[in-house]
Amino acid sequence: MTPKPNSACFEVAIIGLGYVGIPLALGFAKAGCQTLGYDSDKERVLELRKGRSPFAHISSEDLADTLSNGSLEVTSDPNDLSKSEAIIVCVPTPLLQHQDPDLSHVLGVGKDIAPHLRRGMLVSLESSTYPGTTRDEFRLVLEQGSGLKAGTDFHLVFSPEREDPGNSESKLFNIPKVIGGLTEECLKRAVELYGRAIDKIVPVSSCDTAEAVKLTENIFRFINIALVNELKTIYTAMGINIWEVLNAAKTKPFGFMPFYPGVGVGGHCIPIDPYYLIWKARELDIDCRFIELAGQINRSMPNYVVNHLLEAINHTGQSLSGQTILVVGLAYKPGVSDDRESKSYTIMNLLKDKGADVEYYDPGILIIPPHRGHWSGQSSINWNRENLGRFAAAVVCSANQDVDYEQLADEIPLVIDACNIVPKDRMAQVVLA
Ligand SMILES: NC(=O)c1ccc[n+]([C@@H]2O[C@H](COP(=O)([O-])OP(=O)(O)OC[C@H]3O[C@@H](n4cnc5c(N)ncnc54)[C@H](O)[C@@H]3O)[C@@H](O)[C@H]2O)c1
Repeated sequence: MTPKPNSACFEVAIIGLGYVGIPLALGFAKAGCQTLGYDSDKERVLELRKGRSPFAHISSEDLADTLSNGSLEVTSDPNDLSKSEAIIVCVPTPLLQHQDPDLSHVLGVGKDIAPHLRRGMLVSLESSTYPGTTRDEFRLVLEQGSGLKAGTDFHLVFSPEREDPGNSESKLFNIPKVIGGLTEECLKRAVELYGRAIDKIVPVSSCDTAEAVKLTENIFRFINIALVNELKTIYTAMGINIWEVLNAAKTKPFGFMPFYPGVGVGGHCIPIDPYYLIWKARELDIDCRFIELAGQINRSMPNYVVNHLLEAINHTGQSLSGQTILVVGLAYKPGVSDDRESKSYTIMNLLKDKGADVEYYDPGILIIPPHRGHWSGQSSINWNRENLGRFAAAVVCSANQDVDYEQLADEIPLVIDACNIVPKDRMAQVVLA
């Protein structure tokens, strides 16, 4: 087991060892920076110290190697933060009820860091948030708790995270890093640090601009996904296959970038970040009409998919009530075990409300985690012929490459396919939705 940190000095400490923080800590450590990882979740830290990654897409072997060569240490003791020259914060920024921003993790970390701040230290916020957070709320808690002044006594920047979980091509070093500082000096210090681990740095003029860059990137995806979702509903009604349209359209070498329809948007970023801007814009009395509309369209997709199932079952003269339905894919996208904001749950709830018995299959999520209400504790089905034969219909929610869709379409009579991945030449009736 790796011992508790005892180094006199770390070049960088990463706060929040989750989807973003672990790869970031590994990236810095592999670049030769003496790195400290800190998380308030003691269980997580204990597991990490044993070299066990909490996520399937992050290799435990890689983690164990980096810990054992001494370039990375992990802790749940905030006092260890004072041993670092720089601190990077990547804790969650979720939504409260009514889609208001929840900055409690960011501001809580600010309070935890403040007593450990020293002159010359660098603090970088990476959690996605609305413009003004670093300059206003975050700076204030750091200054109040430390008695030091940002931009004079310590350096403060915002640098948006661009992690793409499950994409083995994108690594910390090859994704350009946007940074905006409170002052020129703050920016310079951050460019030096990040430049040690990342090939290309993109400096911008302020923390607010860097925050806006992140929101712009995610709002771009949010709106374009809504657009193809809307096009799907129109083309489907016209008997046109949206995926065939997109595959042909993307052969245009300029001016077109494909986005794909689905059951709605999931994960900790795309469905959440747009609402940070909507909330902040209200302060200026501005309605983000375009973004709100995209949200409405994306939110309507689970109902759209379930309605296709209802219609197909009705055509057989049966009703959904009492039928056993399999939902395939629980994670919000293929290749990850992250079920945050996954619309598969919305579909499962809709099916249950209509009287169906619902089970699921996801090779990355074998048991539904505790925070999922009545679904918690339910296990993924064992994938075998006999088991598949129990279902009246399946709804395919994500294009997971580890699923045998041929067998699915041979064993289950009706398949609602929201990803255009199920072969159409097998036994099942396959409905694109
Ligand atoms: N997941 C992504 O793909 C992704 C991509 C880009 C940006 N982001 C942004 O990065 C941020 C982090 O997201 P994530 O997906 O890594 O979250 P996560 O939930 O996977 O990890 C966050 C970690 O922070 C820890 N934590 C929470 N409060 C803490 C505190 N007060 N002190 C110390 N540790 C604390 C939690 O225990 C957890 O381990 C969010 O703002 C998110 O929007 C995420």
